[in-house]
Amino acid sequence: MGNTPLKGSTTDHAHRIHFHQARTSQKFLSNQHLWKLSSRYLQNLEEYLETVIKGTPSQQWIEFPDLYHFLQVHVTRAMIHSLMGSHLLETNSTFIEDFWTFDSHVPRLLRAFPRWMIPQAYQARDRLLETIKTWHAHAHAHADCTKLADDDPEWEPYFGSKLVRARQEYALKAHFMNADARASEDLGLLMASNGNAVPSVFWFIYESLKSNSSVRGSLSGEVAASTNHNGELDIQKLIRQPLLQSMYAEVLRLYVGIGTARQSDSEPFQLGGYQIPKREPFIIFSRHPALNSEAWAAAGRARAETAPLDEFYPERFLVPKTKNESGSSEKTGFDFSLEGLAGLWLPYGGGQRMCPGRHFAKNEIIGTFALLTREYDMELTGSARHQHTKPDLRWFPSGALPPVGKVPFRIRKRVHSTPRGL
Ligand code: HEM
Repeated sequence: MGNTPLKGSTTDHAHRIHFHQARTSQKFLSNQHLWKLSSRYLQNLEEYLETVIKGTPSQQWIEFPDLYHFLQVHVTRAMIHSLMGSHLLETNSTFIEDFWTFDSHVPRLLRAFPRWMIPQAYQARDRLLETIKTWHAHAHAHADCTKLADDDPEWEPYFGSKLVRARQEYALKAHFMNADARASEDLGLLMASNGNAVPSVFWFIYESLKSNSSVRGSLSGEVAASTNHNGELDIQKLIRQPLLQSMYAEVLRLYVGIGTARQSDSEPFQLGGYQIPKREPFIIFSRHPALNSEAWAAAGRARAETAPLDEFYPERFLVPKTKNESGSSEKTGFDFSLEGLAGLWLPYGGGQRMCPGRHFAKNEIIGTFALLTREYDMELTGSARHQHTKPDLRWFPSGALPPVGKVPFRIRKRVHSTPRGL
């Protein structure tokens, strides 16, 4: 996957799939592409949420049986629309439902359960792949996936983002990637972009609703401070706010249980007293270092009495402000920092293969919270008001952990005195 092929490699450039996968996602999920994709996602989400509320008199609460399901529907819809265009969702009206049925079986699919044991998972996956194939064919008939120059549109309705166009472009050049392979690749992208981000959005919103009024007030204050001169949300300002970043990092620390697979292609190496042979696969788990209080203390982040590592603590990643730098909080005198935590905070893996969607995920998680906070009032209802929902550890080590059980809540549109929009 490196810029230079491995010594002795005879693979054609067009067939270096790992190189093309990595390069396209790094390129089209950063810089101007990242900001445009993020604003489009938030715009879509705002529009979808408007349709949920439409027709309800202002100030009237709407009750929902489960916050996680609500986010699975609306966040995924807005994400697919921004990343993959509008036609994919029009091709199959049960696409989102099928995706989450399939996703709920990921731990079993990873353990290679056969079709006869989990027929719903296989049927949902078959439908998803068929839909993606139909969508690809339709998009190729109406749009040109090679339109990737700076002056080509960042988004069009058939393929959606430049990232998806670029993936089609290299896959078509690799002659062994037929329509089935290309569909599987984009199901992979759907999993990568929704499977971890949506549970993380859930935990961010859930923990903010569970937090005390001082934390809630500071979070809303940071959202309010992240507006441009038109009173619109400024995403670049937003994702630099200290407490919002600390909440985000704490959500990923506690609620992502992922295993990152690696092997050394070139030579054996030593790790913690063990000799790891060349080409021997091994897995690095994110959750063990995230909960290792000795290692956190050694990194100068011990807060064992006030904030044990198995508990959610919104301010965990705040450190006293040293200088008047950007990203500092005037009110609290604290900065957000991940310094010293390499090897302890690993939700995105590491090295060359580190998640290329991490900047987008951060914008999406903090941006979704900010949008909901600005535009809506939300409250937990029923049993969710008193009980604390736990993450489903059966999911470990497949990624962000979904909640156990349903979390009922209610929502209503806020009445605005200031101009709004994104
Ligand atoms: C909280 C949200 C997310 C988490 C925790 C997460 C985590 C990860 C991890 C651990 C990997 C494997 C990295 C490695 O092997 O070192 C990965 C890969 C990947 N992620 Fe994410 N991710 C998230 C969101 C996203 C989003 C929103 C996107 C895209 C829009 C995305 C796109 C990708 C892609 C394309 C890969 C494969 C990279 C490759 O193998 O070359 N991710 N992610």
